[in-house]
Amino acid sequence: MKAFDKLPVHVGLIMDGNGRWAQKKHMPRSFGHNAGMNTMIKLAAHASGLGIKYLTVYTLSTENLSRPQDELDGLFALFRGYFKTNVKKLYKKGAAVKIIGDISPLPDDVQTLLKEGESGSPADAEFTLVFAINYGARSEIVRAVNLAVERGEKVTESDFAATLYTGGIPDPDLIIRTGGEVRLSNFLTYQAAYSELYFTDVLFPDFGTREFDKALKEYERRDRRFGKIKK
Ligand code: FPP
Repeated sequence: MKAFDKLPVHVGLIMDGNGRWAQKKHMPRSFGHNAGMNTMIKLAAHASGLGIKYLTVYTLSTENLSRPQDELDGLFALFRGYFKTNVKKLYKKGAAVKIIGDISPLPDDVQTLLKEGESGSPADAEFTLVFAINYGARSEIVRAVNLAVERGEKVTESDFAATLYTGGIPDPDLIIRTGGEVRLSNFLTYQAAYSELYFTDVLFPDFGTREFDKALKEYERRDRRFGKIKK
């Protein structure tokens, strides 16, 4: 028997609450990000096992880049570790990695690892883990507008969508935000026009596969009409 009658093709995940999770344990925020990374690794394996095709994880927003340097250094250390080792485990399972966002302000070695992570990915992947890093939807949209202006051509919705960082990836069917806030915080604004939204108070490190399945069950119950009337 199938676990779910209706499954999203693409899930977006706003991984909020790592800092508060750590603070509750009287630990530094970096401890929370490390725990969050472990949760993310489990969720990616779970999502791909279920047959979800894309999981986009909001790893660092453009706004997050103004966080204290020691917190950023902790996150960059996690990226280094993950992209040196874990990414190869994904390839072995036939999964790919894609980066969206402007990684140019990141340390050079981290940029290199992220690019290698993408280029080493299998071409015919059944599952893609998309990392939004120094990503902001507004700057993504402005960048796409400027590309269109440079080409000097009017754009259609579909060729505009193709110029976004997510070009070629279907819009997210479901966006999950952990950590209690009820907003999208500059995440996939253009692509989220018809996404189903799921918010939970659970802090991200505690958002395991059971919690993920609860979100999928809720998605299963949603009636997606895309502005049309039900026949
Ligand atoms: C938001 O929680 C989370 C982040 C800014 C970082 C998310 C990063 C990870 C889960 C690690 C991913 C690792 C790799 C290798 C891709 P917050 O710190 O804003 O939490 P708070 O709202 O409780 O302060």
